[in-house]
Amino acid sequence: MARLGVNIDHVATIRQARGGREPDPVTAAAIAELAGADGITLHLREDRRHIQERDLKLLRRTVQSRLNLEMATAPEIVQIALAVKPEMCTLVPEKRQELTTEGGLDVRLNMEQVVEAVDRLQDGGIAVSLFVDPDPAQVKAAHKTGADYIEIHTGAYAEAETAEEENRELAKIEAAIKLATKLGLGVNAGHGLNYRNIKKVAALGGIEEFNVGHSIISRAVLVGLDRAVRDMVELIKYA
Ligand code: PXP
Repeated sequence: MARLGVNIDHVATIRQARGGREPDPVTAAAIAELAGADGITLHLREDRRHIQERDLKLLRRTVQSRLNLEMATAPEIVQIALAVKPEMCTLVPEKRQELTTEGGLDVRLNMEQVVEAVDRLQDGGIAVSLFVDPDPAQVKAAHKTGADYIEIHTGAYAEAETAEEENRELAKIEAAIKLATKLGLGVNAGHGLNYRNIKKVAALGGIEEFNVGHSIISRAVLVGLDRAVRDMVELIKYA
């Protein structure tokens, strides 16, 4: 069975909305692990819009499963990763204006930059994964960098509007899994996966780890809201 890495970025997004201390992504990570998460994933963005260095450092000390740091190839972030030593670093493209990671890393176009980051991280004993679209040219380029894993970007599959489009995207994912496996790369997958669309991807087999964030945190808000309101009503009632 594939592992589940829970991405806790959006717990930090809610915290940053008020600039205070809650909800704390460190607590969220502990709860996710208690519920069976196989790993905790977080993205330290260059603009620090959600996860802060404080979170990363604390999570390194508290996470008992595996820590997967999503990051740009920027030397400043590579330096931080080398100091913190997560089990895995997933290199992603990063644009300041984007709401979330929009596409896979263009490994072919940025080969030199990617190879430099892969080498530095691996020299520091960290496994490296490259977040790429399910495109054979990118999978081959990822292999050339010496990376250990690819993470297949499932965004196009998740956003498919018709059954035909969905099947086409699923076929691309399947082909990318086969190619990467043949090349000796480990395969992870993520982005846009939710409680409806993950099953078909998981059924393909060959994926070691799924990284899921937005849909889990969204569901947590809704399934937790009933209890949270009841708790507040009780407090007022018995004051
Ligand atoms: N994998 C990667 C590389 C990502 O950048 C993200 C988003 O931070 C995810 C997985 C999780 O995506 P989502 O929040 O849509 O589940």
